[in-house]
Amino acid sequence: MYNKKSVKDIDVNGKKVLLRCDFNVPIDKETGKIRDEGRIIAAIPTIEYLLKNNAAVIACSHFGRPKGEFKPEFSLAQVAESLSKHLNKPVKMAKDVIGEDATALAAQLKPGEIMLLENTRFHAEEEKNDPEFAKKLASMADVFVSDAFGSVHRAHASTEGVSHYLPAVSGFLLKEELDYIGGAISSPKRPLVAILGGAKVSDKLAVISNLLKIADSIIIGGGMAYTFFKAEGGTIGNSLCEDEQLESVLKCKEEAKERGVKLLLPVDSIAGAEFSNDVEPKTFDSNAIPDGMMAMDIGPRAVAEFVAEIEKAGTIVWNGPMGVFEFSKFAEGTRAVANAVANCDAVSVIGGGDSAAAVRKFGVAEKISHISTGGGASLEFMEGKILPGIACLLDA
Ligand code: 3PG
Repeated sequence: MYNKKSVKDIDVNGKKVLLRCDFNVPIDKETGKIRDEGRIIAAIPTIEYLLKNNAAVIACSHFGRPKGEFKPEFSLAQVAESLSKHLNKPVKMAKDVIGEDATALAAQLKPGEIMLLENTRFHAEEEKNDPEFAKKLASMADVFVSDAFGSVHRAHASTEGVSHYLPAVSGFLLKEELDYIGGAISSPKRPLVAILGGAKVSDKLAVISNLLKIADSIIIGGGMAYTFFKAEGGTIGNSLCEDEQLESVLKCKEEAKERGVKLLLPVDSIAGAEFSNDVEPKTFDSNAIPDGMMAMDIGPRAVAEFVAEIEKAGTIVWNGPMGVFEFSKFAEGTRAVANAVANCDAVSVIGGGDSAAAVRKFGVAEKISHISTGGGASLEFMEGKILPGIACLLDA
């Protein structure tokens, strides 16, 4: 299912390549400037390979959610500048997506040159996967290369639609994501330890359900853990809880038992009187958190148990922090898990912006086997779903 052709499997010499990237980069709310160039830097190896091998690269991406209208604040112009800086060569920026400017620039583009189309979501047809729009996009090129792992869960014109008109293969970034995440969930070195965290259990139920079929143990931390404690009759004070999921989490626990999957919840938690770093942190058993207190991190006994489990792993997948690690008083659980993941010998795969931000913050990113560029995409991949932007690529 994940064995797809890549740029290395086709001849790109002298070809025009429509390259879908995920340049949906985070923006600083105050300045409107790019806050993290990670997704741009991640696209460089494929672009350099294409240019070196004499292809003309027509790059495209969505950026934010402009809802089908040309809006200057959603222009990709600043991405073109950043790309040009990292490639150390000019990137021609089109004024439109499939309009006169883009098509004229694409027609004149020479091998070894690169241009960037405007935000594909300036057209409502993009998200509708409109065939005419996809055809027009595809008509500028000879080949489609997808390197937009972060968007493969979207069946949009530039992620899926164009593959109906052009031979479609993956770039290096997409291939690496498929190899690591696909490898971790389809043929993991055992034991496979999954670590899930974050605020909402409802966001992770589908992942838990799939991981119950493949993981040896599942560690659960973060705000999502307290729905489990409440479901079992514990008191959780003001901790996060989704009452409508109480039954679902009990079913998860039952299924884990039936399947012999170890499900670890944090036995203790560190809580504060309000959602703030200016509170006195206090440790409680996670099923006995007093009224008025809110759990914001896993406690020291939970850390010890989780770390011991992580140390045994052959493969680790991690999505979601163990607590509010942005607050220094509630960062220890996530820090300890990050260090344990980084320092063990297992293949480690991290998905989701928050856990990726955590390993970067704690300075251990270099020791992680693979940090995914996908948020929603990596989660849906781990849910075992067939993702349209992957399914549409040619099989190897
Ligand atoms: C992401 O940032 O997760 C991807 O770029 C997809 O963006 P979207 O959720 O707006 O489709």
